[in-house]
Amino acid sequence: MTQLPDLQGRHIVLGLTGGIACYKAADLARELGKAGATVQVVMTEGAERFITAVTMQALSNRPVYTSQWDARPDNAMAHINLTREADAVLVAPASADFIAKLAQGRADDLLSLLCVARPTERCALLVAPAMNREMWAHPATRRNVVQIVADGAVVLGPAAGDQACGEVGDGRMLEAAQLCDALIAHFQPKRLAGRRVLVTAGPTYEAIDPVRGLTNLSSGKMGFAIARAAAEAGATVTLVAGPVALATPMGVARIDVKSAREMHAAVLPLAPTHDVFVATAAVADWRPVDAAGQKIKKVAGQAAPSLVLVENPDILAAVAALPGHPYCVGFAAESHDVEQHARAKLERKKVPLIVGNLGPATFGRDDNALLLVDALGTRALPHADKLTLARQLVGEIAQRLPSAP
Ligand code: CTP
Repeated sequence: MTQLPDLQGRHIVLGLTGGIACYKAADLARELGKAGATVQVVMTEGAERFITAVTMQALSNRPVYTSQWDARPDNAMAHINLTREADAVLVAPASADFIAKLAQGRADDLLSLLCVARPTERCALLVAPAMNREMWAHPATRRNVVQIVADGAVVLGPAAGDQACGEVGDGRMLEAAQLCDALIAHFQPKRLAGRRVLVTAGPTYEAIDPVRGLTNLSSGKMGFAIARAAAEAGATVTLVAGPVALATPMGVARIDVKSAREMHAAVLPLAPTHDVFVATAAVADWRPVDAAGQKIKKVAGQAAPSLVLVENPDILAAVAALPGHPYCVGFAAESHDVEQHARAKLERKKVPLIVGNLGPATFGRDDNALLLVDALGTRALPHADKLTLARQLVGEIAQRLPSAP
């Protein structure tokens, strides 16, 4: 099944103001286009000092607007026309000066004019600040950011790190891919607004000695996709991850662990403060009874060592048994008879929902197919990429939650 790009059918006004981060806006225009959006670039005079309108036209495939006096529109009202067809205005980079203008509602150039002229209820304003750390920390900027948020703008970032001026601190514009993800998230339905979601993901690693261990083929991709989908749906998300090399989804708090016991120790104290627990991790069922303190050496003529295993704690069952436990969702990665095994786990772990899938067909891949098993029956979520499935699963979980107090 071919999936439509996430921003298919969305029309975005991409506003650039004066700042060195304009170089990232070139990439952003491409990312938005690749995600299916149509992009109308609007640049301030300051932005044109950093990057040319020709570059932005070539990347967005549309002539750029730079002036409120542009004579191209028949009605000479670019600020009205551009915002009536847009689904969102994204200002990236947003300079300290431009944020100050937004805070005051000033409208003396096309971009600030259209920000004030946009229909606020159906055309969101997203702002990606980019400036030196002292400018970001200045009390005037702090006041202005508070004001634009109070007026309904969504502020994305900034990130901390190396700055073009050579200083290090807060004020870097987010990367193009992060801004594109933030825009995608903005358009997702907020089915988990106000909810707290705890997710486990990835394999666990059970040490045999300091250089060897027992693990499995779980990539963590499904759990990370669920964490992202829950955050997109408006939840506050904590992700407890086994050893995987995946980027943390935007806005998700991540705790890295290695072994099943570390995962258990991280999850149990957090679980009571969450509304939902999704146990996606492929937790090792057993660990070596005693990990050797030093590397086990191969000695000529000596028999191979034998491993004595002991059972790991069952994290999902332990959370489900807590008083005031969150709504618990388990995963069952099976090699056969998915529905039958998933239903057995539903009863054994005493959880309201088990998501079955075929382990060998999903581990490490970007796509999957899921079977939702609960007391009422089964429901198949057909083959799709993991993020699509994660969004569908988040919708299913949201429907099953008791309404918020
Ligand atoms: N799980 C867990 N802690 C464990 C083992 C499993 O939290 N020690 C969770 C997994 O994250 C998953 C669910 O329990 O959500 C089912 O895991 P699975 O390994 O398939 O179940 P087991 O009970 O171990 O059954 P089996 O390995 O025999 O299939």
